[in-house]
Formats: sequence, C-alpha cells, structure tokens
Amino acid sequence: MTSGRHLIAPSILSADFARLGEEVSSVTAAGADWIHVDVMDGHFVPVITLGPAVTKAVGRCTDLPLDVHLMIEKPERHLEAFAKAGASVLTVHQETCPHLHMTLRTIRSLGCKAGVSINPGTSLSALDPVLEHLDLVLIMTVNPGWGGQAAIPSAIRKAAELRETLTNRGIPDVLIEVDGGVKVDNIGDFASADVLVSGSGIFGASDYEAMIRSMRAALAQPGRAAS
Ligand code: DX5
Ligand code: ZN
Repeated sequence: MTSGRHLIAPSILSADFARLGEEVSSVTAAGADWIHVDVMDGHFVPVITLGPAVTKAVGRCTDLPLDVHLMIEKPERHLEAFAKAGASVLTVHQETCPHLHMTLRTIRSLGCKAGVSINPGTSLSALDPVLEHLDLVLIMTVNPGWGGQAAIPSAIRKAAELRETLTNRGIPDVLIEVDGGVKVDNIGDFASADVLVSGSGIFGASDYEAMIRSMRAALAQPGRAAS
C-alpha cells in the first residue's frame, strides 16, 4: 500500500464505555476504516483497560477490522485469545518482546496481520532486523497509556523516515500507523502514514461522520489547515 489511501482508525479508548456497542456502531456508520482497540495491563503502562472478552463484544458491533494494540508485558501469552476474539491486526510493543521475530511469526500463524509498535523514546533502528517479517509498524506519537495528549514532533517525523526506509528496502507494502495526538487540525503532519488512529479527536466530536470527513479532506490537502 502507498500513502495515497489513508485509513482512519478511531480508538475506542475515548469512547463512552457505558455505551460501547453503540459507539462502535456509530463510528462504523460514520465511515471509519478500522476499529482501534487499546489493551493495557497496568504494568507496561499504568492503566488497565480491556481484554479479549470486550474485544469480541466490539467485533459483534462492526464488520470493520479490529486493530488490537497490545500495551502489555509478555504479550505472547495472550495472542491466541485475541486472535480468537476476532483481531485482524495484532500489534505488540518492541519494548516488551525479547523474542520479537518469533512473536511475529506466531501472530501470522494465527491468521492475523503482525504489527510492532515503538514508543517515542525508541529508535526506528530497533526494527531494522524484523522489517521483512511484519505487516505493520505502529509509531506511537505520544507515550502510551492515555488519550488526549499532544503529539511529540520527533515521533511524528519517524513516519516519513520509515516510509523512506521501506521504499529503499523494497518492502512498500508494510503499513505505517501513527497513534497519539492525531487531530483534524494537525492530521496533515501525519500524511506519510497509511493508518491514522484518533481517539479523542473523533470521540470528542459531536458529529463523528463530519469529523472523519474533515480528517480525510485535511489528509488530501496536507498543506492546508482544516476548518
Ligand atoms: C494511547 C493509545 C491511543 C489513544 C490515542 O496509549 O494507544 O490509541 O487512544 O488517543 P488520542 O487520539 O486521544 O491521542
Ligand atoms: Zn493505541
């Protein structure tokens, strides 16, 4: 895939959890491409969110791919459970995986796209040995754990750097995803990415459809600020 077609992935972390099914249906009807599911364990990040049971329930409310972002230690213990829960993409953090190559192979053997995420403080070069063995790189543009933070410029720049690396290595089909601080008024800065996660930027809007439409318009003209 090239950066010509952008996918918008609302993060349900900023949804109203008391009405989660309704919220997932609403963003699906509003034109989202993927549903981003943030899994946190209270160890890798301080917050605890949800697990396979809620992921499966989310899947019953949408036909869109479930993009599961595992912010958990020892993620290999839970890959099968999330695959069975309906994940299309399973993304682990490089910082949590001493046997990353093997973990990626396991994810693919479960029939999911294999993703690796890096924190803002982790260099892209940490992924050099595995780029040929993954389907997606998730660049965290905030420190993981919370929605509503401002994106970190040095992390945003990684998306363009990675695009160049993927082109030079002859693996342009690897998807680049960005996550954290993506809003309609700065989304053009992330245009090198293929998949754009937005939590508070979408669920904080009064009209999800209008917001997603504005985000797509801003991506189509990255030089111009959206109104
Ligand atoms: C943060 C999560 C994000 C979060 C993004 O750890 O991985 O997916 O929901 O939230 P916003 O878009 O509000 O920065
Ligand atoms: Zn996320």
